Amino acid sequence: MKETALITGASSGIGKEMCILHAQAGKDLVIIARNEKDLNGLKAQLESQYDIQVHVISKDLTDATAVDEIIKDLEQHSIQVEYLINNAGFGKVGMFADSDWETSLSMIQLNVIALSHLCRRILPQMLERNSGRILNVSSTASLMPGPLQAVYFASKAFVRSFSNALSEELKESNITVTNLMPGATETNFAKTAGLQDTALFDDTASAHSVASTGYKAMMEGKMDVTAGITLGQSLMLKAIPFTPKKLVLNQVRKMQEDNS
Ligand SMILES: NC(=O)c1ccc[n+]([C@@H]2O[C@H](COP(=O)([O-])OP(=O)(O)OC[C@H]3O[C@@H](n4cnc5c(N)ncnc54)[C@H](OP(=O)(O)O)[C@@H]3O)[C@@H](O)[C@H]2O)c1
Repeated sequence: MKETALITGASSGIGKEMCILHAQAGKDLVIIARNEKDLNGLKAQLESQYDIQVHVISKDLTDATAVDEIIKDLEQHSIQVEYLINNAGFGKVGMFADSDWETSLSMIQLNVIALSHLCRRILPQMLERNSGRILNVSSTASLMPGPLQAVYFASKAFVRSFSNALSEELKESNITVTNLMPGATETNFAKTAGLQDTALFDDTASAHSVASTGYKAMMEGKMDVTAGITLGQSLMLKAIPFTPKKLVLNQVRKMQEDNS
């Protein structure tokens, strides 16, 4: 396989759009998500449209053994990963005290543990070749605490911090780590999180535009990039460190309250 990108959360939304972008560049793919039917459909579509190979791994990344099984599968098929795109993730709105603990655990396992474990397993191979790029999808949520999605916002703060730290550790190498921070984007995310009827999702960007911005930033080796936000939102995010914390917390909570 050539210049292979491993993309998690490839069956829909931002991840699927990133698969299409990589295929358009004439490069091979390893696509991962739980829905095998959707992954096989995407493989058939991309292999018929472009001169590339797509390897499907249907896996629930909340399983503690998932990453080891993925690495074994890659070894069995002699696949070298040049681009690692950790995109799979989900959120869930609600008061933490009322939340389902199993859902929070799965969220941490997917958004935090699987992401860092994949970096830990694939990075040494990149270092050996002194070549590779990593794109970790966090969120603008990584920039503030998130009342009504406390675990999700914290998980994305982990992704941002972790990615930036790796980027510094790798600065003498040819490997780059990019932290992509999308704003509200038109995907299955809002429905899964229960956020469809909130002010947060009044205005959404397309999955294609967010994926394009992130993919380009990864190719350019940028450390951080936001995507799918307006100029006003960008200015608000920049003002967060200078805004009283209680005001920020109150605003974030209001944005996530049900308006229906
Ligand atoms: N949409 C937004 O507004 C927004 C904003 C900021 C950040 N983000 C981040 O962007 C990333 C992509 O989300 P999206 O917006 O494209 O949402 P999406 O359409 O719901 O896509 C999520 C992807 O993750 C996969 N996934 C979910 N649980 C999984 C599991 N247990 N194991 C393996 N794969 C799993 C899903 O596939 P299967 O269901 O087939 O497993 C799907 O391919 C996430 O990390 C999200 O936090 C989204």
